[in-house]
Amino acid sequence: MGKRRIGILTGGGDCPGLNAVIRGVTKSAINRYGMEVIGFHDGFRGLIEEKFSFLTFESVSGILNQGGTIIGSDNKANPFQYRPHDCGKDVHVDVSDQCMQFYEDLGLDALICIGGDGTMTIAGMLMQKGAKVVGLPKTIDKDLEGTDITFGFDTARAIATEAIDRVHTTAQSHQRVMLVEVMGRNAGWLAMEAGIAGGADIVLIPEIPYDMEEVLRVVRRRNHFGRRFSIIAVAEGTKGIDGEQTVHKIVADSPDPVRLGGVSHAIAHEIESKTGIECRVVILGHVQRGGSPTPSDRLLGTQFAVKAMELVDKGHFNCMVGLQGCSMVAVPLEKVMGKQRLVPLDSPLIDAAMAVATSFGVKEIR
Ligand code: F6P
Repeated sequence: MGKRRIGILTGGGDCPGLNAVIRGVTKSAINRYGMEVIGFHDGFRGLIEEKFSFLTFESVSGILNQGGTIIGSDNKANPFQYRPHDCGKDVHVDVSDQCMQFYEDLGLDALICIGGDGTMTIAGMLMQKGAKVVGLPKTIDKDLEGTDITFGFDTARAIATEAIDRVHTTAQSHQRVMLVEVMGRNAGWLAMEAGIAGGADIVLIPEIPYDMEEVLRVVRRRNHFGRRFSIIAVAEGTKGIDGEQTVHKIVADSPDPVRLGGVSHAIAHEIESKTGIECRVVILGHVQRGGSPTPSDRLLGTQFAVKAMELVDKGHFNCMVGLQGCSMVAVPLEKVMGKQRLVPLDSPLIDAAMAVATSFGVKEIR
């Protein structure tokens, strides 16, 4: 029997820790199981367009602390809805059979798909066509079902917390309201955790549509008691009780075309015009996805990777590795596909934050 061979790809938006995972998969595949590793370039695009390279001990050395992904990522290429470069505008074709043929031609024993919910959904669809898949949960949004944590989140939370810490002094000096807008799509995990860790006075998340009257009341009240500045952590997916999310742009050829962002400007305008207090907006954007991963993300990524290889070795496929409590578990892909894990309203963290007078922009959480 020849050497076993696995493929690996990183799909969706990048985040810190991807390289730690690529290294963990490659090194343990070679070192512990004597396997060969193929890295597909730019997510599923590499599988579709047959672009890949062999990953070796040498090629993954020295990348543990590097941000991004050495094999590239892509949040548009989908084998089930592929948009060829050279065809007319809105033409999408299903090239999944061609991808499965390539998977067979390469003699892959497994495909490791590292990504968020979009990547897991595509991985699950390839599984239904016969691919042996193991998923690894990546996203700064922490919105994947089946796992308490995703790698990339800890680093993004640290960056967002530092930003909130930093605006405190300038907000105080100028007696301003500073709004710090954080990524996270439809989930408020990042804004909530960074906001609470950074001591924000108000935290606005999509799961709790805000009431502008309450936001104004909190800001005015702080002023009244001599706290002449306020910090508001805002999730990009935040919406008001009567409103909708603020769409920054539509990326037409992306499977998830909506890009959120900019809601803070409208909130700032409202606060400034109703209270007369000067407001400033800081939108953190992709800064949250860049740079070196925290030690936690490196450790988590390495453990996830090693667990994935253990599952491959045992022939346990069609699952995503997750961390539940203190245990690394294999979650069936069907339980992850097409789902989003949002902040539950009975979260102990929300309760703790409210106990220390942090506002969520509503009188009462229901
Ligand atoms: O899912 C990760 C994420 O960073 C979201 O938090 C954000 O809404 C989105 O990706 C941004 O996507 P893009 O990189 O395409 O602008």
